[in-house]
Amino acid sequence: MHLRKKGISIAAVAAWCVLQACSSEERLPAKVTFTEHVAPVLYSNCAVCHRPNGGAHFNLITYQDAKKYATGMAYVTKARIMPPWPADPHYTEFVGQRVMSERDIQILDKWVKDGLEEGPANKMPVLPDFPNGSTVGIPDLRIPVKPYFLPANSSDKFLLVKVPFELPEDKYVSLVEFVAGNTNVVHHVNGDMVKYDFDKKKDVYAGEQILDMVEDSTIKQAYEKLGLPNDDGSYPVLQKSVVNYLPGVFGQKYPEGIGGYVLPRKGAFLLNDLHYGFTRDSAVWDSSYINIFYSPVPPKRPVQEFQLGTLGVAPVEPDLILQPNTTKKVSSRFTIANDISVLTVNPHMHLLGKSFKAYALKPDGDTIRLISIPNWDFNWQYFYTFKKMVKIPKGSTIVAEGYYDNTRHNLNNPFSPPRLVKDQNGSMRATDEMFQFIVTYLPYQPGDENISLELNKK
Ligand code: HEC
Repeated sequence: MHLRKKGISIAAVAAWCVLQACSSEERLPAKVTFTEHVAPVLYSNCAVCHRPNGGAHFNLITYQDAKKYATGMAYVTKARIMPPWPADPHYTEFVGQRVMSERDIQILDKWVKDGLEEGPANKMPVLPDFPNGSTVGIPDLRIPVKPYFLPANSSDKFLLVKVPFELPEDKYVSLVEFVAGNTNVVHHVNGDMVKYDFDKKKDVYAGEQILDMVEDSTIKQAYEKLGLPNDDGSYPVLQKSVVNYLPGVFGQKYPEGIGGYVLPRKGAFLLNDLHYGFTRDSAVWDSSYINIFYSPVPPKRPVQEFQLGTLGVAPVEPDLILQPNTTKKVSSRFTIANDISVLTVNPHMHLLGKSFKAYALKPDGDTIRLISIPNWDFNWQYFYTFKKMVKIPKGSTIVAEGYYDNTRHNLNNPFSPPRLVKDQNGSMRATDEMFQFIVTYLPYQPGDENISLELNKK
């Protein structure tokens, strides 16, 4: 306030805060050094991915690492490109969100301006003990994904992968966790569980285990090649979104009594799009696996889900047909018949997506915010878990809105010049488009909105 009286403009006040300090917590050190100020920022915001086997291809751990990338770090953090968290934290907040404080961003910026000094060695913090092999603990069962070979200089791959299993008996499970073997190339996974009736399927291992989605066009053909149908040709039960992975994501356990699965004696995980990034000058093998954590109790409140948009309960309107050199806004609306408690949301678009927003309109006209992604980033499609379940009353309409850019101004456009791109019945090829909004939920019970989902806060 006293600044205003001296006739300093708002902009100048903001600049003042950057240069000096607005309150004691935000005060920046007179001289920023690596060991005292930068390393703590990197260890809490970046090193989970920027470390050996952490998912990013370079490390941000030592003074040498940080010095080499200093300007880039200052830029990507100010632009909020890194750490990757496309959801707008001012719209809604989620468990484990990777959002840097203004002060931390300024530390990286000021370090560049202060001349990249190393600082006293005895101030160097200890690198956190990042988990290996699991982000949760010691699993009860580990099921390997068929190893996959990527030659040198190969481009992105989107694979449909079957991970079959056979157990002595049905098992209650609290968590299914995907662990990337080679985190330099495994980018993301979105997996369901196929549950066979014991007598309807002789051999769960029959059929292919890995298909390249660029080569195999229709989903039905692909399912047949994978040997997914029962022996009589009918289809087994599919439980959706049982296992998901992106670099830096921790396995999400829910409070006891919520979630969990029954793992059937005969089954398979179906990794809908195991996305391998491109390789550089050397070939790599990936041996990923799936960790299973048993539970002593059956799932009391199994997680349910529905999806709006492509292949969902409500259509994309108007159609997702993106003419070259045009932009388009689409939406999908679905009115729910019962009260629900929302656990997670997952917006999904491909390369032409630019922004995404979802909310619920209550019968009384109020809006419940769900998620806003102002700058769509194909690479970071999280399942966002609310800090507390969000109650949506029956009769509410869930609205998802997406904006697409099929012009040459969209730097992610896979075609130059732009071509007609459309929804091909849920084809997962990055060059076809999709518009989906997946909601996982429980039927509402009183008190749900007070249950914290921040269990394994890291
Ligand atoms: C969730 C994982 C994750 C976190 C957390 C993360 N990064 Fe990254 N970062 C990546 C990935 C993946 C890339 C892509 C490049 C690659 O393949 O390694 C990347 C790329 C970068 C780049 C290069 C950008 C470019 O244009 O190529 C910089 C600089 C960077 N990160 C800095 C940071 C900093 C600084 C932090 C912390 C404040 C951070 N990152 C946090 C995963 C992460």
